[in-house]
Amino acid sequence: MKNNFFQTVFDCLMEPDLNLKMQRLSQIQIDWSEDDFDFTPTAKVVRVPDAGRPEQPELVSPKLLPRRRLGSKEGHASLMHSIAHIEFNAVNLALDALYRFQNMPHEYYRDWLGVAGEEAYHFQMVREHLNSLGYEYGDLPAHDGLWMTTYETDHDPLIRMALVPRTLEARGLDVTPPMISKLRTIGDKRGVEILKILLHDEIGHVEVGSRWFRYLCAERNLNPFNEFQSIIKNYFHGDLRGPFNFEARQAAGFSDEEIQWLKTL
Ligand SMILES: [Fe+2]
Repeated sequence: MKNNFFQTVFDCLMEPDLNLKMQRLSQIQIDWSEDDFDFTPTAKVVRVPDAGRPEQPELVSPKLLPRRRLGSKEGHASLMHSIAHIEFNAVNLALDALYRFQNMPHEYYRDWLGVAGEEAYHFQMVREHLNSLGYEYGDLPAHDGLWMTTYETDHDPLIRMALVPRTLEARGLDVTPPMISKLRTIGDKRGVEILKILLHDEIGHVEVGSRWFRYLCAERNLNPFNEFQSIIKNYFHGDLRGPFNFEARQAAGFSDEEIQWLKTL
Protein backbone atom coordinates (compact mmCIF):
# COMPACT_ATOMS: atom_id res chain seq x y z
CA MET A 1 0.00 0.00 0.00
CA LYS A 2 1.22 3.50 -0.78
CA ASN A 3 1.96 5.87 2.10
CA ASN A 4 -0.25 8.88 2.53
CA PHE A 5 1.59 11.96 1.28
CA PHE A 6 0.12 14.42 3.78
CA GLN A 7 0.68 12.18 6.79
CA THR A 8 4.25 11.44 5.73
CA VAL A 9 4.97 15.15 5.28
CA PHE A 10 3.41 15.87 8.67
CA ASP A 11 5.67 13.30 10.35
CA CYS A 12 8.67 14.98 8.75
CA LEU A 13 7.43 18.43 9.83
CA MET A 14 7.12 17.26 13.44
CA GLU A 15 10.43 15.38 13.53
CA PRO A 16 12.64 17.18 16.08
CA ASP A 17 15.94 15.53 15.22
CA LEU A 18 17.89 17.47 12.59
CA ASN A 19 19.44 14.51 10.81
CA LEU A 20 16.30 12.40 10.93
CA LYS A 21 14.26 15.28 9.54
CA MET A 22 16.64 15.61 6.60
CA GLN A 23 16.55 11.83 6.03
CA ARG A 24 12.77 11.75 6.11
CA LEU A 25 12.66 14.57 3.60
CA SER A 26 15.04 12.77 1.21
CA GLN A 27 12.82 9.70 1.47
CA ILE A 28 9.76 11.80 0.59
CA GLN A 29 11.59 13.09 -2.48
CA ILE A 30 12.47 9.54 -3.54
CA ASP A 31 8.91 8.30 -3.01
CA TRP A 32 7.57 11.29 -4.89
CA SER A 33 9.80 10.60 -7.88
CA GLU A 34 8.66 6.98 -7.86
CA ASP A 35 5.03 8.05 -7.72
CA ASP A 36 4.68 6.16 -4.49
CA PHE A 37 2.16 8.30 -2.62
CA ASP A 38 -1.53 8.29 -1.96
CA PHE A 39 -3.01 11.81 -1.86
CA THR A 40 -6.20 11.17 0.09
CA PRO A 41 -6.71 14.14 2.47
CA THR A 42 -6.12 13.31 6.14
CA ALA A 43 -9.15 13.03 8.45
CA LYS A 44 -8.19 16.31 10.07
CA VAL A 45 -5.54 18.94 9.59
CA VAL A 46 -3.98 19.96 12.88
CA ARG A 47 -2.59 23.36 13.72
CA VAL A 48 1.13 23.43 14.46
CA PRO A 49 2.07 26.14 16.97
CA ASP A 50 5.62 24.80 17.04
CA ALA A 51 7.11 22.60 14.33
CA GLY A 52 9.59 19.83 15.08
CA ARG A 53 12.99 21.29 15.90
CA PRO A 54 15.91 20.35 18.13
CA GLU A 55 16.05 21.55 21.74
CA GLN A 56 18.89 23.87 20.80
CA PRO A 57 19.03 26.67 19.69
CA GLU A 58 17.29 28.42 22.49
CA LEU A 59 14.71 30.75 20.96
CA VAL A 60 14.68 34.32 22.22
CA SER A 61 13.13 37.60 21.20
CA PRO A 62 15.23 39.35 18.51
CA LYS A 63 15.81 42.19 20.99
CA LEU A 64 17.67 39.77 23.23
CA LEU A 65 19.94 38.45 20.50
CA PRO A 66 23.43 39.74 21.18
CA ARG A 67 24.71 42.04 18.45
CA ARG A 68 28.25 41.20 17.50
CA ARG A 69 30.60 42.82 15.06
CA LEU A 70 31.01 40.81 11.88
CA GLY A 71 34.75 41.39 12.07
CA SER A 72 35.04 39.24 15.20
CA LYS A 73 35.06 35.45 15.07
CA GLU A 74 31.88 35.34 17.16
CA GLY A 75 30.17 37.92 14.96
CA HIS A 76 31.00 35.95 11.84
CA ALA A 77 29.71 32.72 13.37
CA SER A 78 26.63 34.45 14.71
CA LEU A 79 25.71 35.70 11.21
CA MET A 80 26.11 32.18 9.81
CA HIS A 81 24.14 30.77 12.73
CA SER A 82 21.24 33.11 12.08
CA ILE A 83 21.23 32.14 8.39
CA ALA A 84 21.27 28.45 9.34
CA HIS A 85 18.29 29.11 11.60
CA ILE A 86 16.38 30.81 8.78
CA GLU A 87 17.10 27.93 6.41
CA PHE A 88 16.08 25.35 9.00
CA ASN A 89 12.80 27.18 9.53
CA ALA A 90 12.34 27.42 5.78
CA VAL A 91 12.39 23.61 5.57
CA ASN A 92 9.57 23.47 8.10
CA LEU A 93 7.53 26.15 6.42
CA ALA A 94 7.73 24.42 3.04
CA LEU A 95 6.66 21.17 4.74
CA ASP A 96 3.78 22.98 6.41
CA ALA A 97 2.65 24.43 3.06
CA LEU A 98 2.59 20.84 1.72
CA TYR A 99 0.78 19.29 4.65
CA ARG A 100 -1.78 21.93 5.43
CA PHE A 101 -3.37 22.82 2.12
CA GLN A 102 -4.60 19.49 0.87
CA ASN A 103 -6.85 20.52 -2.00
CA MET A 104 -4.36 22.15 -4.29
CA PRO A 105 -3.38 20.96 -7.81
CA HIS A 106 -0.67 18.31 -8.01
CA GLU A 107 1.89 20.87 -9.31
CA TYR A 108 1.58 22.81 -6.05
CA TYR A 109 3.00 19.82 -4.16
CA ARG A 110 5.72 19.33 -6.76
CA ASP A 111 6.73 23.00 -6.38
CA TRP A 112 6.74 23.11 -2.58
CA LEU A 113 8.50 19.77 -2.25
CA GLY A 114 11.16 21.21 -4.55
CA VAL A 115 11.42 24.23 -2.24
CA ALA A 116 11.67 21.99 0.85
CA GLY A 117 14.53 20.05 -0.77
CA GLU A 118 16.43 23.22 -1.68
CA GLU A 119 15.97 24.66 1.80
CA ALA A 120 17.36 21.45 3.29
CA TYR A 121 20.34 21.72 0.97
CA HIS A 122 20.82 25.36 2.00
CA PHE A 123 20.63 24.43 5.65
CA GLN A 124 23.22 21.68 5.31
CA MET A 125 25.54 23.95 3.36
CA VAL A 126 25.31 26.81 5.87
CA ARG A 127 25.62 24.37 8.76
CA GLU A 128 28.83 22.92 7.34
CA HIS A 129 30.25 26.38 6.91
CA LEU A 130 29.28 27.23 10.47
CA ASN A 131 31.03 24.03 11.58
CA SER A 132 34.16 25.17 9.77
CA LEU A 133 34.05 28.31 11.94
CA GLY A 134 34.00 26.11 15.04
CA TYR A 135 30.27 26.26 15.82
CA GLU A 136 27.30 23.94 15.49
CA TYR A 137 23.71 24.90 14.78
CA GLY A 138 22.19 25.30 18.23
CA ASP A 139 25.30 26.72 19.90
CA LEU A 140 23.90 30.25 19.83
CA PRO A 141 20.44 31.61 20.65
CA ALA A 142 18.12 32.34 17.73
CA HIS A 143 15.14 34.44 16.67
CA ASP A 144 11.87 33.15 18.13
CA GLY A 145 9.50 34.82 15.68
CA LEU A 146 10.09 32.93 12.45
CA TRP A 147 7.30 30.44 12.83
CA MET A 148 4.70 32.93 14.00
CA THR A 149 3.53 34.15 10.59
CA THR A 150 3.38 30.58 9.37
CA TYR A 151 1.10 29.67 12.26
CA GLU A 152 -1.04 32.77 11.85
CA THR A 153 -1.63 32.07 8.17
CA ASP A 154 -2.60 28.43 8.53
CA HIS A 155 -6.24 28.99 7.64
CA ASP A 156 -5.80 30.12 4.05
CA PRO A 157 -3.20 29.27 1.39
CA LEU A 158 -3.80 32.63 -0.33
CA ILE A 159 -2.82 34.56 2.78
CA ARG A 160 0.04 32.14 3.43
CA MET A 161 1.47 32.68 -0.07
CA ALA A 162 1.16 36.45 0.28
CA LEU A 163 2.84 36.67 3.67
CA VAL A 164 5.36 33.89 3.92
CA PRO A 165 7.08 33.59 0.53
CA ARG A 166 6.04 36.99 -0.86
CA THR A 167 6.75 39.05 2.26
CA LEU A 168 9.08 37.31 4.67
CA GLU A 169 11.15 35.31 2.20
CA ALA A 170 11.12 38.19 -0.26
CA ARG A 171 12.83 40.26 2.44
CA GLY A 172 15.73 37.83 2.09
CA LEU A 173 16.14 38.98 -1.51
CA ASP A 174 16.64 42.55 -0.27
CA VAL A 175 19.06 41.84 2.55
CA THR A 176 21.26 39.17 0.98
CA PRO A 177 23.29 41.36 -1.42
CA PRO A 178 24.51 43.66 1.40
CA MET A 179 25.37 40.56 3.44
CA ILE A 180 27.38 39.23 0.50
CA SER A 181 29.35 42.49 0.42
CA LYS A 182 30.05 42.27 4.13
CA LEU A 183 31.32 38.71 3.86
CA ARG A 184 33.50 39.75 0.96
CA THR A 185 34.98 42.51 3.14
CA ILE A 186 36.05 40.00 5.75
CA GLY A 187 37.40 37.63 3.09
CA ASP A 188 34.92 34.80 3.60
CA LYS A 189 34.97 33.36 0.08
CA ARG A 190 32.93 30.27 0.89
CA GLY A 191 30.34 32.40 2.69
CA VAL A 192 30.01 34.61 -0.39
CA GLU A 193 29.63 31.56 -2.62
CA ILE A 194 26.93 30.09 -0.35
CA LEU A 195 24.93 33.30 -0.11
CA LYS A 196 24.98 33.66 -3.89
CA ILE A 197 23.45 30.20 -4.21
CA LEU A 198 20.86 31.08 -1.55
CA LEU A 199 19.92 34.32 -3.30
CA HIS A 200 19.56 32.58 -6.65
CA ASP A 201 17.37 29.81 -5.22
CA GLU A 202 15.27 32.11 -3.05
CA ILE A 203 14.18 34.03 -6.15
CA GLY A 204 12.72 30.72 -7.31
CA HIS A 205 10.99 30.14 -3.96
CA VAL A 206 9.38 33.57 -3.92
CA GLU A 207 8.35 32.96 -7.52
CA VAL A 208 6.59 29.76 -6.46
CA GLY A 209 4.75 31.81 -3.84
CA SER A 210 3.83 34.48 -6.42
CA ARG A 211 2.58 31.90 -8.89
CA TRP A 212 0.30 30.14 -6.40
CA PHE A 213 -0.82 33.44 -4.92
CA ARG A 214 -2.00 34.48 -8.41
CA TYR A 215 -3.54 31.11 -9.03
CA LEU A 216 -5.64 31.39 -5.85
CA CYS A 217 -6.62 34.99 -6.62
CA ALA A 218 -7.79 33.95 -10.10
CA GLU A 219 -9.75 31.06 -8.64
CA ARG A 220 -11.57 33.44 -6.27
CA ASN A 221 -11.94 36.23 -8.78
CA LEU A 222 -9.79 38.60 -6.78
CA ASN A 223 -7.50 41.31 -8.05
CA PRO A 224 -4.00 40.17 -6.95
CA PHE A 225 -2.69 43.70 -6.55
CA ASN A 226 -5.52 44.86 -4.28
CA GLU A 227 -5.48 41.59 -2.44
CA PHE A 228 -1.75 41.71 -1.72
CA GLN A 229 -2.00 45.24 -0.40
CA SER A 230 -4.94 44.49 1.84
CA ILE A 231 -3.30 41.33 3.24
CA ILE A 232 -0.17 43.31 4.10
CA LYS A 233 -2.31 45.93 5.78
CA ASN A 234 -4.41 43.49 7.79
CA TYR A 235 -1.98 40.75 8.70
CA PHE A 236 1.60 41.92 8.53
CA HIS A 237 3.04 42.97 11.90
CA GLY A 238 6.21 44.48 10.58
CA ASP A 239 6.88 47.50 8.49
CA LEU A 240 7.19 46.82 4.79
CA ARG A 241 10.25 48.88 4.15
CA GLY A 242 13.06 49.15 1.67
CA PRO A 243 15.61 49.26 0.40
CA PHE A 244 14.12 46.66 -1.90
CA ASN A 245 15.93 44.51 -4.41
CA PHE A 246 13.60 45.34 -7.30
CA GLU A 247 15.45 43.29 -9.87
CA ALA A 248 15.23 40.13 -7.77
CA ARG A 249 11.63 40.82 -6.82
CA GLN A 250 10.69 41.27 -10.44
CA ALA A 251 12.33 37.94 -11.27
CA ALA A 252 10.37 36.46 -8.35
CA GLY A 253 7.03 37.39 -9.89
CA PHE A 254 6.31 40.83 -8.45
CA SER A 255 4.21 42.69 -11.02
CA ASP A 256 5.10 46.14 -12.36
CA GLU A 257 2.17 47.49 -10.37
CA GLU A 258 3.51 45.93 -7.18
CA ILE A 259 7.02 47.20 -7.84
CA GLN A 260 5.65 50.73 -8.37
CA TRP A 261 3.75 50.45 -5.09
CA LEU A 262 6.83 49.26 -3.21
CA LYS A 263 8.68 52.28 -4.56
CA THR A 264 6.18 54.56 -2.79
CA LEU A 265 6.78 52.99 0.63
FE1 LIG B 1 16.76 28.93 1.59
